[in-house]
Amino acid sequence: MLPQLNFAHVRARLPIIQGGMAVRVATANLAAAVANEGGIGIIAGTGMSVSALQAEIRKARELTTGYIGVNVLFAVTQFAQLVRTAMKEKVDFIVSGAGFSRDIFAWGKEFNVPVMAMASSARVARLAEKMGAAAVVVEGKEAGGHLGTDKSIFEILPEIVREVSIPVIAAGGIMSGEDIARALDAGASGVQMASRFVASEECEASQKFKELYLNSKSEDSVLIESPVGLPGRAIRNHLTELLRVNKTIPVKECKGCLKHCTHSFCILKALESAVEGDVENGLVFAGEFFHRINEILPVKKIFAQLISEFEQYRQLNLSKLNYGIASISQYNNAASK
Ligand SMILES: Cc1cc2nc3c(=O)[nH]c(=O)nc-3n(C[C@H](O)[C@H](O)[C@H](O)COP(=O)(O)O)c2cc1C
Repeated sequence: MLPQLNFAHVRARLPIIQGGMAVRVATANLAAAVANEGGIGIIAGTGMSVSALQAEIRKARELTTGYIGVNVLFAVTQFAQLVRTAMKEKVDFIVSGAGFSRDIFAWGKEFNVPVMAMASSARVARLAEKMGAAAVVVEGKEAGGHLGTDKSIFEILPEIVREVSIPVIAAGGIMSGEDIARALDAGASGVQMASRFVASEECEASQKFKELYLNSKSEDSVLIESPVGLPGRAIRNHLTELLRVNKTIPVKECKGCLKHCTHSFCILKALESAVEGDVENGLVFAGEFFHRINEILPVKKIFAQLISEFEQYRQLNLSKLNYGIASISQYNNAASK
């Protein structure tokens, strides 16, 4: 059976967190659907105004009594306002995306809201624990969006599990119940999945955004240099090809959304365009294994599939183990005759 996921006051029935996805890919509708299945939903605050985030949190509360968190990218200018707004709204926890500083832990104490940090190395995970993180999300290179490592989740996970005593959540490339089982076997307390939930009925990204996931091939998973100063994993399209050839796309209007921006292109506009349906000129973030998803399903069905795949994998391994034990005892019996 899938275990419960516990951290701070959170006692989720299933150890599955839906990852935060900017801009307006992970909204109240998706987060609440995940929370209603016993998982944990996350609203991405990045790219929203303070009032829009407030409205999304309140909407999620109307749609579910389950656990809801908010993810904000550390790189955005409005980081403090968005995080403090979510904390005032008493979300269950906050995730500081792609980086963190001491401030967020102080605000967490002020509002009594637990903070989760993202990490891609044991050093950063240890630092997050020392600063007061309630749990750490370890993201491997398979993850969609901004990346902090070029190593696989299954390469970095065991070391981080050994190094910290807070719950460790595995993220990047977790697509099936078998992947969940493998992450738990490697010591994770839960998983964070994002791409799988893009292809859900409840995700509010445009149909074209979701269809690009279904219609692209494995070789279309590409890395771009984000203006944030980190690589970002996306699906190959006209925009990523332009960036590959020209490196930059002139920015016509700058809203100053990032604390530090390389101005190589406008990521806010690119993410907004994609989510609204311009999937050639926009930026479509997706995890490396998006091609393993082949249908858009209601969140309820995605959960049913994940649970049944997990059970099947466990049953299969149990039968293999029993077969192994039976073979050894047969051998021993034969040898002792
Ligand atoms: C469309 C999209 C947008 C994302 N935006 C964010 C974000 O705003 N903040 C963040 O911390 N991670 C973001 N991520 C990363 C996810 O939350 C998650 O950790 C990662 O994608 C997990 O890998 P998977 O997609 O293979 O399941 C994004 C991922 C995707 C696919």
